[in-house]
Amino acid sequence: MSSALTASSRRHFLQFLAASPLAAMAFARQADPMTAKDVLSVMDMEELAHKKVPPAHWGYQASGVDDDLTLQANRAGFQKIQLRPHRLVDVSTVDTKIELFGATWESPLFLCPVGGQKSFHALGEIGVAQAAKAKKVTQCLSTQSSVSIEDVAQALGAPPWFQLYMPPDWAATERLVRRVEATGCPVLAWTVDLLGGRNTETAERFRRTDTRDCAQCHPDSRGTPRPRPMTMGLPAGAPRDANWTWVERLKKMTTMKVIIKGIETGEDARLALENGADGVLVSNHGGRATETYRGTIEALPEVIDAVGGKIPVLVDGGFRRGTDVYKALALGARAVGI
Ligand code: GLV
Repeated sequence: MSSALTASSRRHFLQFLAASPLAAMAFARQADPMTAKDVLSVMDMEELAHKKVPPAHWGYQASGVDDDLTLQANRAGFQKIQLRPHRLVDVSTVDTKIELFGATWESPLFLCPVGGQKSFHALGEIGVAQAAKAKKVTQCLSTQSSVSIEDVAQALGAPPWFQLYMPPDWAATERLVRRVEATGCPVLAWTVDLLGGRNTETAERFRRTDTRDCAQCHPDSRGTPRPRPMTMGLPAGAPRDANWTWVERLKKMTTMKVIIKGIETGEDARLALENGADGVLVSNHGGRATETYRGTIEALPEVIDAVGGKIPVLVDGGFRRGTDVYKALALGARAVGI
């Protein structure tokens, strides 16, 4: 750990490590020489990823903002909801299919947009597309994808959904939207929760523990990402003057369904609906945007109430278990992002 870290920041970093499910389970698993074939749960996979992925990349992937408490709140939210199971219900035929935006999916799950997946595995978004295809679920590709949408569409066997980080001007937005639309992408998820930036201290602390030479792969020693396939040639930055009238303007630009990603309140859900959104995605960016201390499963009911069934409500944030997914569906979500 770099000597640049202060005692208090070091304390916070250790607290982050201790609060992780990895720490709680590390003892029980010490003897396990775990490989991907041995994993029993998403949490096992998380532990394995921690061992395999370079510290800077792991820190980027696994952390939240400020004190990482919203990241933890996403998981903690599920523990506040109990289930009342009914017994002797015939489950010999189970149908988990859903209808969404004119398509039928085998399950109510979709794969969330995660940027730069080649920094976690050499196959990156292509490997994820292959998995999504095998499980017959859809994949939402990040604007920050390390693979182009054209190549992902080929691996997925269908165009993915696309998560839009809007470039800072409309001309660039239109270029990006046209390119995405040309692949046949059916759903554009405009992400509105990062327009003001964010404070990723834990990721930075992990970066400082990484002894690799970042300049081997990055343009500088701080690990700044290179322009990626979907952002190449586009101006960097975000439109800080975005407002609700922009939903209609974006809708007019494309035939894709436009959903608003990053909604956490009933008020905003109503505004999304009034301004023509085709759906909302209740999301706090995996606890990586604003430190609200509120899990998305806790925000979901007020959003469901506000839209009154007029448009689909999707949700993501901390889903790790089937019962987590069940809780969201029982509260009225149409689909769950993992
Ligand atoms: C990308 O969406 C991130 O949270 O870093």
